Amino acid sequence: MKNIIVLVSGGGTNLQALIDAEKSGDIAGGKITCVISSNPGAYALERAKNAGIPTRVLPRREYADSKSYSQAVLAALDEEKADLVVLAGFMTILDQCVTSRYAYKIINVHPALIPSFCGEGYYGLKVHEAALAYGVKVSGATIHFVNEKADAGAIILQGIVNVEKGDTPEVLQRRIMENVEWKLLPKAVSLFCQDKIEIIDGKAYIK
Ligand code: GAR
Repeated sequence: MKNIIVLVSGGGTNLQALIDAEKSGDIAGGKITCVISSNPGAYALERAKNAGIPTRVLPRREYADSKSYSQAVLAALDEEKADLVVLAGFMTILDQCVTSRYAYKIINVHPALIPSFCGEGYYGLKVHEAALAYGVKVSGATIHFVNEKADAGAIILQGIVNVEKGDTPEVLQRRIMENVEWKLLPKAVSLFCQDKIEIIDGKAYIK
């Protein structure tokens, strides 16, 4: 059984999708053993507590820079004996000390079709604001491995939704979460836990 550690910063609807998937037996070979939040006030912590999952809080604001914060995250992941790390609405970019130690063991959900609307500065509603400002007709979400560059690791799964006339960033965000993120994140986690993802020349394929 693989230890899944979920990193969160906010509302935690993706964490909830993972908790629900585990409960209904849809994550074969893995168990969420700890939730770590960068934000002490994150509602995601309540979701974890309600599900009986141990939590840790590592407040980002208590660390001077990304490197010292990442070292604290790394120590926590090692202590928790993480086999898989899931960034589920985690709003801090992790330094190379974490991404190299956990290469191809960190999965992120990004709310756009990478390589569009991604990288530093593109997170949460800002992603949907940018997609609407550009006028794209489809958007979606990407589940990918995390490497040393923001949103640039191997893509595991992607899903799309239509952008409708009159969409607000909030409406588009919700459509993408419901139709893509909450389905594909648990799916990718389950595939990982069953060793069904292989890497060939830096790209991810489902076996
Ligand atoms: C989700 O839409 C997730 O894709 C996005 O933030 C939201 C978090 O919601 N993540 C990023 O933008 C990371 N770059 P949640 O806390 O309800 O899961």
